[in-house]
Amino acid sequence: MRFDTAQLLKRFFFCERSLLVSMAAWIPSIASLEIKIEMARFTWQSSETANSLRERVFELRFPNRLLEEEGSDHSLVGLIGSVRDSPSVPALLSAVGHVFLPALRDAYRDYLDASDAIADGPTHRFLSVALTEKREQVDAFQKWAATSLTQHAALRESTAVWTHDLSERLVAIGGIGVGPASQVDVTTPKTNTYAIPDRPARDPRFWPCRFYWPDIVDSTFPYGEGLRLQLRSAISHLNEVWAIEVGGIILSSFAEVLPWEWIRNSARWTYDESRHCRMGYERLMAWNLDPAEIPLGTYIYDSASGKIYYDADGTGAGAKILFAQVDPGQVLANTDFTIVGSAAPALAAAKDIPASPSLADFIWTSDDADTWLLREHSSSTHNVPWFWFGD
Ligand SMILES: [Fe+2]
Repeated sequence: MRFDTAQLLKRFFFCERSLLVSMAAWIPSIASLEIKIEMARFTWQSSETANSLRERVFELRFPNRLLEEEGSDHSLVGLIGSVRDSPSVPALLSAVGHVFLPALRDAYRDYLDASDAIADGPTHRFLSVALTEKREQVDAFQKWAATSLTQHAALRESTAVWTHDLSERLVAIGGIGVGPASQVDVTTPKTNTYAIPDRPARDPRFWPCRFYWPDIVDSTFPYGEGLRLQLRSAISHLNEVWAIEVGGIILSSFAEVLPWEWIRNSARWTYDESRHCRMGYERLMAWNLDPAEIPLGTYIYDSASGKIYYDADGTGAGAKILFAQVDPGQVLANTDFTIVGSAAPALAAAKDIPASPSLADFIWTSDDADTWLLREHSSSTHNVPWFWFGD
């Protein structure tokens, strides 16, 4: 019985691990701030459950080396992992909410029903918490899937097909359950390959802009005192949304090459950032501010891609124009650029390019119709050609 218990708990560990890695990977692609924040919390909950399962398996004197691979549950764990390749956000939410989370919920319930609350007391304690959390997660994911489908009606059919395919395969494999490992090997319904999004999806209710406090564009704007300082702090916390996304991406990107502790610690970090973001959001809502007036940072320059944009209004309200592509991760300085043209001197002075600018410093607002030109400085080693703006 001890061996069987450890086998089941080991299976649950790998199922939780697989699911949470996929959830973390999708955090940047979710536009809704509420879902983004909650997915980080659920990812952390899963990691805590997985860690308790893992610790319990060790406690049951299961050979350590067997906890580094799925073993006989390989096919099941691979199927759960395939949800990372979901073709769209609604498809991911639907497959997790209608297929895999309910399967885990039911497996935990069946385990608690079948096992002895005294002999296996330590498992009962944490798995009861996990069962409660799974019920909340199922409800949330199913609600999110329905909401996202009302916003993306065109994805309704592909989402249904994807969810059905995964559900059928899970049935064929015998579900997660509390029985012996399935001998059936199923193929995964691959229609898409997961890729880290170039830029994260942002909640459209907010004001998209490249700064969250005016001192980014006006260095004389005060940091703030009293209520204004509270407001700045709340907006700053809200803008930590980017840190949730980075946490999720880093967790999932290194999940296969770093030890379990990496996943667990990254999940906690991601959750912590989601709490910071939520603190700011709740504070701003308590002040009855309209989200449309709250700045939420957008990535005008994405340092990972090396793209430099020109933004005519400087706020992101108008379309930005991609005008340069430098090497990804390139570090630029003001001396790398020279501005020429009839309006250029005034423009250059007004802009006051700092010594170590971010690429966002090269996004100018021009309120006259003069033609001006930005070119790479002759001493620069970056391969940036000439760029014309204006009429
Ligand atoms: Fe933070």
